[in-house]
Amino acid sequence: MPRPFHLGWFLQGSSVQAWGEPWTGAIGRDWMRPDLFTDMARALERACFDYILVEDSSYVGEAYGGSREIYLRHGLSVPRQDPSIVATLLFAATQRIGVATTLATFTHHPYLLARIMATLDQVSAGRAGWNMVTGSSDMAARNLGLDGLPEHDLRYDMADEYMACVNALWDSWEPGAILADTESGVLVDHEKVHSVDFKGRWYSSRGPLNSGPCMQGRPVIAQAGGSPRGRRFAATHGETVVANPKGIAAMKAYRDDIRALAAAAGRDPDSIKVLFLVNPIIGESAEHAEMRRLERIAAADRRIAQRLAHFSKVTNIDFSGFDLDQPIDEGLRTNGHQQNLDTLKRMGAGGKTLRQAFTEYSGTGLSVDLCGTVDAVAGQMAEAMQEIGGDGFLFSMGDVSRRVVAEVADGLVPALQARGLVRRAYAHATFRENLLEF
Ligand SMILES: Cc1cc2nc3c(=O)[nH]c(=O)nc-3n(C[C@H](O)[C@H](O)[C@H](O)COP(=O)(O)O)c2cc1C
Repeated sequence: MPRPFHLGWFLQGSSVQAWGEPWTGAIGRDWMRPDLFTDMARALERACFDYILVEDSSYVGEAYGGSREIYLRHGLSVPRQDPSIVATLLFAATQRIGVATTLATFTHHPYLLARIMATLDQVSAGRAGWNMVTGSSDMAARNLGLDGLPEHDLRYDMADEYMACVNALWDSWEPGAILADTESGVLVDHEKVHSVDFKGRWYSSRGPLNSGPCMQGRPVIAQAGGSPRGRRFAATHGETVVANPKGIAAMKAYRDDIRALAAAAGRDPDSIKVLFLVNPIIGESAEHAEMRRLERIAAADRRIAQRLAHFSKVTNIDFSGFDLDQPIDEGLRTNGHQQNLDTLKRMGAGGKTLRQAFTEYSGTGLSVDLCGTVDAVAGQMAEAMQEIGGDGFLFSMGDVSRRVVAEVADGLVPALQARGLVRRAYAHATFRENLLEF
């Protein structure tokens, strides 16, 4: 039997529920209410997913053409609700699936973040994860009264210290500190709760944490560093690393690199699960899937301005003035998400136009193209995992619709289960234990 792999779902645009997407029902149009997401969480739990990763950023985009118009008009990551509140609702609707909430190091003081995550871990009975990001836009920083974000690599140096601070706060309650002894009337053993007195270069906190301890000791750390410095960070702190390298060779190289960096940092590489972004195209037959693939490419081309606007948002590069039919400028640089820009440049190698490179980048598959009937796609996923070595996939299907969720949860996953490729039941109650099960 092959070793099973893990499944996650990347929930983007965490409030605009399937805007403009058919197959959502009337509720799908009511973007403020959580019904579509809570139904999705139940469906993914039925399919025994490891986790849902709730994306976040804290600003309205305006990198494209120096205007907010395209972002607001099409609901590109706006309106966006607070992810920790969305996560709470997902937890309330489920019992086993993990939820990793995105919170950035520059938006929350370490004390506040440690407290929010401990609370989420408690109310979910040990199912909380933290998608640990350092941010990518000066505009978000300005919303918080800062002039801008620190330089890319410095952000990760600061994040190392941030991790030391939140870890100290989570450790400020020793195991066994909560006695809850009705006979003696003692709730907490005060000798097992300690100050932290953390004084770093950038962050300080006295402690102890007043929320009490995390149920899991600390939340599961999700990370997506793609640059050399980001990968080093992910390999040091991440427990599930999510990434979008293009093609089997790049996926294998990425995972091998994370594992080698983890070993160099004194960690067991098997304690990190690398999940790759995918957006499979599923059809009733091979012909139907191929038709849907062509439709997706055509839709990507029709919406190229919207897609470029999203790309502008994460790279802070204004693509609105670029000629789509000219080659990509090799000299482009970003202080935002470096890996995304590097991938686009690679797609454009050999003099391809921006349109061609971008269609290839975003119009077809993500890490690896998956297309066909559920059985065919299950086979393609098995083959990819065999070549790469592990550890699973993170579905990134754009906006959520009931049809897309059902295709994956009730179509593809049973086909994967029939081949013994994914779990049929949760073995454990907590996020980390399920992640480390295989
Ligand atoms: C699957 C995935 C999810 C991500 N989610 C977020 C997010 O919610 N918020 C955010 O600011 N960045 C997010 N990022 C960006 C990463 O944190 C990181 O900045 C990016 O992968 C580039 O790597 P680098 O920082 O090493 O250049 C995500 C990246 C990936 C691949």
